[in-house]
Amino acid sequence: MRETAALREWYDVHARAMPWRVPPGEARAPDAYAVWLSEVMLQQTTVAAVRDYHAKFLALWPDVHALAEAEDGAVMAAWAGLGYYARARNLLTCARTVSREMGGRFPDTEAGLRVLPGIGAYTAAAIASIAFGRRAVVVDGNVERVVARLRAIETPLPAARPAIREAADALTPAERPGDHAQAMMDLGATVCTPRAPSCLLCPVAAWCEGRERGIAAALPRKAPKRERPTRRGFAYAARSGAEWLLERRPERGLLGGTLAFPVSDWSEAPDPAPPFAADWRAAGTVRHGFTHFHLELDVMVTECRGNPDRGAWAPLDPAALPTLFAKVHAAASDRLSPPGGVEAEPAAGLSSAATRSRP
Ligand code: ADE
Repeated sequence: MRETAALREWYDVHARAMPWRVPPGEARAPDAYAVWLSEVMLQQTTVAAVRDYHAKFLALWPDVHALAEAEDGAVMAAWAGLGYYARARNLLTCARTVSREMGGRFPDTEAGLRVLPGIGAYTAAAIASIAFGRRAVVVDGNVERVVARLRAIETPLPAARPAIREAADALTPAERPGDHAQAMMDLGATVCTPRAPSCLLCPVAAWCEGRERGIAAALPRKAPKRERPTRRGFAYAARSGAEWLLERRPERGLLGGTLAFPVSDWSEAPDPAPPFAADWRAAGTVRHGFTHFHLELDVMVTECRGNPDRGAWAPLDPAALPTLFAKVHAAASDRLSPPGGVEAEPAAGLSSAATRSRP
């Protein structure tokens, strides 16, 4: 297709440099481990946010065997801040499967990749095409927008998905499919942007039905979203010297497996649930957006070293906290007096220490 060829020529000149990418024209094979890691990190997260995490993971665990041998707590700590923590747990399970059952080699087909934890339809297609040069239809949010505009698909999302996929399939070449997929992503990220597409710079503008009809910027249409409800709760930040009362959240559920402060239930009218009786003082409210609801947590603090009914006292490296609990930590630290004496060394194994001593 002529638009496919035009897109590829554009990509040969304008491809964004990314650490996990082999630039167009270079013959070397991509590192499947680096590609897999990038695709899992990029699910729900922007390239800008992922770069440093990707570099950190490759420095700590340069190949799939190294990651497979990592401690759960160390991986969760390195992932802290990227969000959607089930991805980190699946990442580790996937690395262990590939390392121990597949000789360290990722499957090189979409179907083979699909059976691995954390690899859904999109990710399998992306890895198969980018890492292994397989023809696969790769449709992420950027590609969805480019295709809906190019073919003037006016059906609102999500109902438009089958039509978009069919059109994306027709655009996908058998040659250099990985470069095609990444060209579509780059076009969506840099030219065919959500609000004000730069059609004058677009290599496929000549074929764009959305542009011809003057509706490109309004596409893809979206079914109206339901308002996200607000839930409320209490978070309990207890500090004793250099130690905090911390717990590891249950593996299943929101922020599963992450290091956390004890919290109450999250609901319209939460019941207070302090982990031990003390003179808890209010330290303000932190707000955090999840996919399906907004959360407002009232932060309660104390410097009493009580005997908790959950969690364990441990030194804290705030960088190991997911963003929600980093906000709680910041609010609590503002309210508490500066810690006296010397800060204890935040133990790398702290997270597992906190878990081990739990009942
Ligand atoms: N988003 C997800 N994967 C990507 C990639 N390989 N290049 C650019 N954006 C992406």
